[in-house]
Amino acid sequence: MAKLPKCFVARPTKTTISINVVPQSEWKKWSQKLSKFSSNWLKSNGFSGKRPGVILLPNRDGSIQKGVLVVSNASDPWVYAAARSKLPAGRFEFMGLKTKEEANAAALGWGLDSYEFTRYSKSTAKKRQLVMPENADTGEVARLVEGISLTRDLVNTPAQDMGPVALGQAAIDLAEKHDAEWSITVGSELLEQNYPAVHAVGRAAEEEPRLVDFRWGREDAPKVTLVGKGVTFDTGGLDMKSPAHMQFMKKDMGGAANVLGLAHAVMDAGLDVRLRVLVPCVENAVSGNAFHPLDVLQTRKGITVEVGNTDAEGRLILCDALYEAQTEKPELIVDFATLTGAARVAVGIELPAMFCNKEEVATELLSAAGDAGEPIWRLPLFEEYRRHLNSRVADINNISKSPYGGAITAALFLREFVGKKTSWVHFDVMAFNMESRPGRPYGGEAMGVRAVYQMLKSRYTSEA
Ligand code: BES
Ligand code: MN
Ligand code: ZN
Repeated sequence: MAKLPKCFVARPTKTTISINVVPQSEWKKWSQKLSKFSSNWLKSNGFSGKRPGVILLPNRDGSIQKGVLVVSNASDPWVYAAARSKLPAGRFEFMGLKTKEEANAAALGWGLDSYEFTRYSKSTAKKRQLVMPENADTGEVARLVEGISLTRDLVNTPAQDMGPVALGQAAIDLAEKHDAEWSITVGSELLEQNYPAVHAVGRAAEEEPRLVDFRWGREDAPKVTLVGKGVTFDTGGLDMKSPAHMQFMKKDMGGAANVLGLAHAVMDAGLDVRLRVLVPCVENAVSGNAFHPLDVLQTRKGITVEVGNTDAEGRLILCDALYEAQTEKPELIVDFATLTGAARVAVGIELPAMFCNKEEVATELLSAAGDAGEPIWRLPLFEEYRRHLNSRVADINNISKSPYGGAITAALFLREFVGKKTSWVHFDVMAFNMESRPGRPYGGEAMGVRAVYQMLKSRYTSEA
């Protein structure tokens, strides 16, 4: 079982500050029990209890033992994250959490707000710890916080230290941590092993392109395969991006980072699945041997792809990995990718765009997302747009002829390699918070991970 992340403690101590969680609807009744001293304190601080918020209540000597957190929805993790962000250094305990769901939300919000990226600078945060709420599922909270922190760390690490070698190693490290069986295919081996598109995209970079493939769990369990776009930096290739568009492209391995964070949670929970993870790791760089616009690439599937644009590289590395994924007919394939700017135009940067080739699976996933409290938005695999990918010289073009609906045409390109039989979910995500909010700090972010984890958990929790 996962050990408790550092932002938690198991038990209260003498100096632990108890914070009463009070639903807005109960505030009136609850506040009547306060001493004159305390209610005066609230009044002088303008705390009316009409809005969600946290405030600490001093003793007469100025020390603090308790506080109150007014909430509109006690099952919303961000409420507790917001409370944490306002608290001073110290040890805290939330009192009055009524259900397991509320306890888990409190711990998760606290844990996700405690994240800091400290690879290049010392921590500047106040040290705040939470007594793990009694009803909370400690293991569950810990594995989600750890998985999401892994995702954030991987994305936040700049390309200088998170190239194809480091990303591939991160995948191997995770595999080894969970005793998964892994293999890696590097450089020209990609050609020998028939991953031509992965090789073509990554061959111009200083660090050779590679594919990490790991399997975990009992052989005859239901098969679930995760695939993540691992472009450690996307210059656009010869169709080079402008500085403004290139700026954040260290995050173009966000799909891979999401997949590794999710895989950590699945393996740590011991879900009854045979998990497979495929992570193509490349840098889309420029060099004399870079692939060119209008090159015709071979693919693992055996169909040819005309390169309409070298900046549509994500779908090229994914097409080989997805084709390989469907060969063993898993029960489910889920891919995550920072695939298109168009998905961000469609649903913005916070909402993950989700595509799915099976109605029942889409319904199941949307309901799991609701349970997990993580919004996702489904976009259609609209068949009519497939024609925009037709090529004059190859079987398919990697870009659409139409400037519209780019997230959909990218998904349709991938669908060509997964097929229609195997259940498949595709996430086109931002993987990055452009502003800090409680529980969601600026920088790399897991998006869609809790929703998928919830679905896998309800499907594959073993009875034993
Ligand atoms: N990594 C980008 C997509 C991206 C850009 C995601 C910004 C999130 C934020 C991807 O490789 C890309 O460059 N896509 C192109 C596709 C186009 C050339 C068809 C895009 O979206 O412009
Ligand atoms: Mn690109
Ligand atoms: Zn890209």
